[in-house]
Amino acid sequence: MAGQLDGQVVFVTGGARGQGRSHAEAVAREGADVVLFDRCADSPHVAYPLATEADLAESADLVRAHGRDVLALTGDVGDEGAVGKAVDAAIDRFGKIDVLLANAGVHGGGSIQDAHRAVWDEVVATNLTGVFQSLRAVAPHMIERGYGRIVATASNQARMAVPGSVPYVASKWGVIGLVKAAALDLAPFGITVNAVAPGNTSTPMVHNDPLYRALRPDLAAPGWEDVEALLREHHVQPVALLEPVEITAAVLFLIGPATPHITGSVIDVNAGSAARYTA
Ligand SMILES: NC(=O)c1ccc[n+]([C@@H]2O[C@H](COP(=O)([O-])OP(=O)(O)OC[C@H]3O[C@@H](n4cnc5c(N)ncnc54)[C@H](O)[C@@H]3O)[C@@H](O)[C@H]2O)c1
Repeated sequence: MAGQLDGQVVFVTGGARGQGRSHAEAVAREGADVVLFDRCADSPHVAYPLATEADLAESADLVRAHGRDVLALTGDVGDEGAVGKAVDAAIDRFGKIDVLLANAGVHGGGSIQDAHRAVWDEVVATNLTGVFQSLRAVAPHMIERGYGRIVATASNQARMAVPGSVPYVASKWGVIGLVKAAALDLAPFGITVNAVAPGNTSTPMVHNDPLYRALRPDLAAPGWEDVEALLREHHVQPVALLEPVEITAAVLFLIGPATPHITGSVIDVNAGSAARYTA
């Protein structure tokens, strides 16, 4: 059966696990070859473990299981040279990049009074500068071909601030500004640039003890049962977490053949939090 992305090449940052893995598997199912780009190393300024090379290999296997080719690369989206090399390697291997999913991100919190400068630098480097560099690296190639689909991953916290989350909120609001500005610049060239804004999603970014402790500083060793109700409050529908495939569904919509004239938009997948916005 024909897939909606037959013969396309999709570049996924942060593709070793979580939402990036879900996107990679789905685009492979739809007929695309995939480039996975992930740091696969921890950061001293991120409180929870990031993906490993074993995670990256597992994502690559999931793509191959759909009969598609995969190029799995390690590198940091905050490193301009590494992103440029990865894009060059992808074009060498596959001849083109049709789609960029700028999904890599880290969570780092702190209030305006106590956020560490190193955490701010790390979160902005990955979540905002990393998206900027990923777009910059693919844009000349997409302009030359007169075609491209770009989706950046923002967040519910790009639409609505939450207390104690200054670096993350600021970086993700920045992603939406970046997407809108780039959508204007790339519109004449057949390239769309959009964002998805997920609510709390069931990935290792949420399921980790440091986040549980940040959410419940009153408890010595909080578990999932201690934070579930708090996470549910971020949403309107009574669910604490969405599944990665729900975000993937919005991504597939934005990169598929039916949406050439959706650009500069944000799709909220956030269990109704969108109903709380002013417009
Ligand atoms: N999980 C949530 O609740 C949630 C909610 C809203 C938005 N998001 C966003 O969704 C995106 C995907 O996150 P996830 O939920 O799958 O979390 P995750 O931690 O499972 O996946 C993030 C991936 O990005 C990689 N990564 C981190 N920094 C990187 C860097 N500098 N360079 C290259 N790769 C890097 C990690 O190794 C990991 O594989 C992120 O942008 C995140 O901010 C997540």
